Amino acid sequence: MAIVDVPSTFHEAPSFPNKAPPFLNDPDGKFERYWNRASFRFSHKLAGHPLFELDSLVKLSRRMPKCADFAYWSNGTEDPGNQWGARGKSLSLQDTIAGIADNNSLVLIKHAWHDEMYGPVLQSCLSEAVKLCGAIMHDDVILGNATILIASPNRVTPYHFDWDCNFLAQIRGNKKLHVFNDTDRTLLTQVELERFCAGDINSAIYQPAREKDAAVYELQAGDGVHIPYRAPHWAQNGDNVSVALSMNYELRSENRNLDLYRVQHWARRAGLHPPDLERAGMAWQAAALALGTARELRNFVRPSDDGLPTRWRPS
Ligand SMILES: [Fe+2]
Repeated sequence: MAIVDVPSTFHEAPSFPNKAPPFLNDPDGKFERYWNRASFRFSHKLAGHPLFELDSLVKLSRRMPKCADFAYWSNGTEDPGNQWGARGKSLSLQDTIAGIADNNSLVLIKHAWHDEMYGPVLQSCLSEAVKLCGAIMHDDVILGNATILIASPNRVTPYHFDWDCNFLAQIRGNKKLHVFNDTDRTLLTQVELERFCAGDINSAIYQPAREKDAAVYELQAGDGVHIPYRAPHWAQNGDNVSVALSMNYELRSENRNLDLYRVQHWARRAGLHPPDLERAGMAWQAAALALGTARELRNFVRPSDDGLPTRWRPS
């Protein structure tokens, strides 16, 4: 699998002889069998890689292009039921990473696959996951991204779901990851999905009574978990600093569903009662298709400038 738009400086990046690709392990063929159908555990060999030491990550955060969303961080205590982003920032990004052992914080560094040092490793991971999942995923991927997550001891990542599929690799420290079934509409309701697709990232409501339905993964460095599209999840770090890598992908097929939920959200606000996704008929599908086409036309006429030189895609 080739890499697109690799900056010309990549060949100068240092290599780490003991940490060469492939980084992901799949001896049982789980990636192809379960991808985007169910969560599953896998293993990888990123643990101990010097790029994921804190001093390397502080330097990365200084090098990253300052586009609008290259990093997210929050300082302070969280609970599973908190809203995403409810916590503010009381420290700088660099101070947050350097003092992560003591400041009860969470940091996400996005788009680091552009970086000349991190690019070869992160792009290899992005490519490996797609290759392991096979042609069905390869043909459906619109873009991929790699996000580095750094979290304080015992920090909670609140309950939420994402509009992408995710391979989360635990690189340092340990955590307990709770993953729920994305198809259970008594847990993740049609209205929550519609609101999310209309822009409310906090639409998912945590239900402590449903914890018995979660798949709980105890992750050590070297472990990973696949999280399908929309599968709600939350995490509790162990008593140590956690560093993890999220390989996440947007899919063409799921963007069609996003448009459908968005149309249904507007219809519900207008007093209609839209059916769930599986029973949405031709009229709903046509409205969603029109919405998607309008968005693609607008993007073609007026491309968004997010400050990033390229986007990762398999080829
Ligand atoms: Fe997530």
